[in-house]
Amino acid sequence: MSEDVPSQDQRWPWWPLLPLYPYGHRRTLVRELLPGRIWSFEQLQGFWYVAVPIRMTVLKVADGLMLYAPVAVTGEVRAQLRRLEALHGPVCTIVLPTASGLEHKLPVPAMARAFPEAAVWITPHQWSFPLRLPPRLLGFPAGRTRVLGSDGLPHADQLHWLPLGPLNLGLGTFLEYGCFDRATGALLLTDALVAISPEPPPLFEADPTPLLFHARDRGDEPLIDSAERRRRGWQRLVLFANYLSPAPLDVASPLQMLRTSLAPGCRSRRAHFGLYPFRWRQHWQEAVDILLPPGPPRIQVAAVLERLVFPRARPALLAYLRQLAGLSDLAWLIPAHYEAPVACSAAQLEALAAELEARPWAPSEGNWAFLAGIDRTLLRLALVPAEPTGPDSLPTGPD
Ligand SMILES: [Fe+2]
Repeated sequence: MSEDVPSQDQRWPWWPLLPLYPYGHRRTLVRELLPGRIWSFEQLQGFWYVAVPIRMTVLKVADGLMLYAPVAVTGEVRAQLRRLEALHGPVCTIVLPTASGLEHKLPVPAMARAFPEAAVWITPHQWSFPLRLPPRLLGFPAGRTRVLGSDGLPHADQLHWLPLGPLNLGLGTFLEYGCFDRATGALLLTDALVAISPEPPPLFEADPTPLLFHARDRGDEPLIDSAERRRRGWQRLVLFANYLSPAPLDVASPLQMLRTSLAPGCRSRRAHFGLYPFRWRQHWQEAVDILLPPGPPRIQVAAVLERLVFPRARPALLAYLRQLAGLSDLAWLIPAHYEAPVACSAAQLEALAAELEARPWAPSEGNWAFLAGIDRTLLRLALVPAEPTGPDSLPTGPD
């Protein structure tokens, strides 16, 4: 069962002009990640079929269930949570673990309304643009909303909460709360780390259209389904999600797009009537190979985060990785995007920190050029700080 839910990706200023996926038919894939203890609720979100998975993690706690980083509360989500409640107790805690990630923030008010008895915990330094609004005007319920840190921490006897930040982003603040479940050794993160498979996630099995759409080289190619084309489409989506505009991508002019529109086999809404602005150069697979090297999905910092959130804050990230590596019995990483659960050890995080320390940080060449251009523009407009900043220089406002 599903119900229409407005798209929640508002990070793009021109979002009202583009077709927003999944066009009111949001599906949710529910998986048990660690038996009887942790479950994953995954949905797709994005626009123009650039759809990336987003995950809510449900954790068994002493009083019932805790929701970490809620997703859109469709009828399917409600039904699956009711099923878990019948087995494990009520949803007692809802956590928004990020100050800045809109895709995680926007579902929280509706999820809070769906579970009126649950306590709602939000990360401090919530911000909104263009007006800085207090939490109650952002839709968090008055009377049962608490702030992580200053109002305590939920289920602290069972969970270890680990903040990354706050870091001044100029317009707002980056702050993310990791959550370590001592009983299972699972570390729940939001955006700080990801592990990406070169194979499309199971979430696309119900409808592989976004993959098949991006597997094409021209708009007049029909959407043909095969394992190879699903894989190719997924890898291109990953390049979009990481670099926004990777180096091997050219964008066609409106005239070029129109020339390939309405071709036989493409005269449908599903194929966007042949409108397809993307042109991939021949070496696009090399960009994938750099990002997704052979072997099991490696734990990494998403490129967009490195270049736009942490370009001048590498020390803060390295310190955080080393703090996480100090968690005893760390066994699993469960981020809010891509693969989960990912086997994770202290040695892996130490090695990642050492690698990030040794290589050039936040580069500006090749696939990184577009992200670097955004950063340069923000710097020129003085919208982001030029120097690394910490809590002392945070923007003030109605947090
Ligand atoms: Fe996110």
